[in-house]
Amino acid sequence: MNRSAARKRLAELRSEIDHHNYLYHVRDRPEISDEAYDKLFRELLRLEEEHPDLVTPESPTQRVGGAPLDSLETVEHTAPMRSLDSSPELSEVERFMDRVEKALGPGSPGSPGSDTAEIAYVLEPKLDGASLELVYENGLLTRAVTRGDGQVGEDVTENVRTIKAVPLKLRAPKGTGKRGSRKWPPLLAVRAEVIMPIDSFDAFNEKLIAEGKEPYASPRNTASGAIRQLDSRLVAERPLDIYVYDLLVGDLAQMAVGTQWEVLEALEDFGLRVNDLPRRVTSLDEVADYHQRMMAIRDELNYEIDGVVIKLDDIAARDELGATSHHPRWAYAFKFPPRKEITRVLEILASVGRTGVVTPVAIMRPVEIGGVTVSRATLHNREEVARKDIRKGDKVRVQRAGDVIPQVVERIPEKGKRRRPKFKMPKGCPSCGTELIERGPFSVCPNSFECPAQLKGRIIHFGSRYALDIEGLGEESAKMFVELGLVKHLPDLFELKTEQLIDLEGFAEKSATALVDAIATASKTDLHRFLYGLGIPEVGNTVARDLANHFRSFDSLRTADEETLQSIDGVGPRMSEQIVAFFAEEHNAKVLDQLLAKMELMVPEAPHEGGKLEGAKFVFTGGLDSMSRDEAKVLVEAAGGKVVRSVSKATTFVVVGDKPGSKLAKAEELGVEVLDEEGFRGLVESDYSK
Ligand code: IVH
Repeated sequence: MNRSAARKRLAELRSEIDHHNYLYHVRDRPEISDEAYDKLFRELLRLEEEHPDLVTPESPTQRVGGAPLDSLETVEHTAPMRSLDSSPELSEVERFMDRVEKALGPGSPGSPGSDTAEIAYVLEPKLDGASLELVYENGLLTRAVTRGDGQVGEDVTENVRTIKAVPLKLRAPKGTGKRGSRKWPPLLAVRAEVIMPIDSFDAFNEKLIAEGKEPYASPRNTASGAIRQLDSRLVAERPLDIYVYDLLVGDLAQMAVGTQWEVLEALEDFGLRVNDLPRRVTSLDEVADYHQRMMAIRDELNYEIDGVVIKLDDIAARDELGATSHHPRWAYAFKFPPRKEITRVLEILASVGRTGVVTPVAIMRPVEIGGVTVSRATLHNREEVARKDIRKGDKVRVQRAGDVIPQVVERIPEKGKRRRPKFKMPKGCPSCGTELIERGPFSVCPNSFECPAQLKGRIIHFGSRYALDIEGLGEESAKMFVELGLVKHLPDLFELKTEQLIDLEGFAEKSATALVDAIATASKTDLHRFLYGLGIPEVGNTVARDLANHFRSFDSLRTADEETLQSIDGVGPRMSEQIVAFFAEEHNAKVLDQLLAKMELMVPEAPHEGGKLEGAKFVFTGGLDSMSRDEAKVLVEAAGGKVVRSVSKATTFVVVGDKPGSKLAKAEELGVEVLDEEGFRGLVESDYSK
């Protein structure tokens, strides 16, 4: 066959195979037999072999995986991937809906075109798998990234390409709705859940057991483990599936969408796999019904779900509500109640955590709860053990909810059975012997940086991915360093020498040198990574970034008082108290000084000093045409201004977009200056740097 005929036939074959692939894996409705499909596929393979230069990356033959990687690269998400606020209580869901209604106000854009001011929500099953971001540029899959910490995740593109339900190329959309005809936006980022179907999971585990290997704990762990494999050829052998459920980035006008319901339609129209259970509702009763129904059909589904996600339908109204540092304010997870089983307590141990809190842990006769074998459960704290009166030998009810540590719910009384004495918290730390102090119901070992149990955890955390990211510093090495006395305090880490490590188990000259080098490199790090790595109670990754951005120097942070800390968005009284206490602790102060002497902290770039908008506070209401809220925020901050959520006398400008909410009225009432989009652009785009 000549080149141009081959080119033409290749295009035909690919589009035909893509189509059948789509019918089979996305729609579950194959139209041809497996044999007929294989025949087409073989023809494509043969023709590509004859014309290797005509192979394209989106060809269906390119899903078999490539050479293994050394490690997964960390990349930034196109838009933050937040998690959901959640509860299994209907009353909490009601509170969520009340908050939404209150924030949007009467006649809000929550219900386009309706004067009844009924707010619409889309309900979807909450899939229990691994969350991913998929990015399509000009219709081609260019990136797949795990959720990671929500800001950055791991690049798993090669692995995701092997999942047949993920189109490498989007389909040409057919949909023309009331908002006009639909196109792919040039940049489309969506959120999806990778799952392993339950039947495949069972078959996979049976095979492992037959080979004498350890079976996997749950479909979810198997899916998230598979997706993070370094060898994509192994991933290609795993029967993974995917559901796409949320838009992260994409031009709404081009997609001809304004609601979540329409987003799901559009994504489906683009050939992406969308779940078929969503429903659009307007009342709490309907939410309760849907939750009941999902619970009833839960065990019939071929994938695991652990609740229902409630999402505000109107996208412009979502922007109006915004997000906290953790959760969007426009969505909520209505979880299923946890699954429970009965077993017996064999022993109660006191276990010291990374932050020094000593937790009583029940060691139990292993029991299977919802597919996972459980043999340890937390008893939380001294008061909790006393209140539930759990003792060694007792019969207990244990529950497990999703990812959280199993809990002992209650004791099941046994008539006429003699019980053991009550559990008593030890006086001294089970790890270092230091006398425990009482903090509320908790017992805490105050020896933060020397207690071996804490030190090991602190070293691991300090070197972890979102902290100093020291490759090679893991559980095993941290344990050895502490046990052999090579690291007695955190700063000793920077004194480790290659010669000390070479003879240790698991080390050779190359790995020892690599680790010492990695530690030296990590001694120069971002302020926010350092802060996160310290493991200050309550200070997670997002807060660490916020603190770094606000203070821009470690010294001003460590001397800040509670009031100053609380002026930062997202820092409340409890957090500020913990931060101040952490820095005030004498022992910590000494260790921090030693660390600082060995490290160099890089500070985020300062905003335009004396920028034209220095000190100005902006509130946005309604959707902007020419940019997203995030882009607008960047412009404001670049000019020295700040974006805040609610209108008050202290607000400088209220920027009004399409379908403004109640904030406009508030601005007018308070006499705050109102800008339209053009006025806003004029303000931020003029030369503000002196
Ligand atoms: S929407 C910003 N919809 O649940 C909100 N999440 O903490 C975006 N999940 O890890 C999430 N099914 O991956 C959404 N239908 C669904 C979902 C879903 C499962 C996961 C999500 C996240 C977790 C929530």
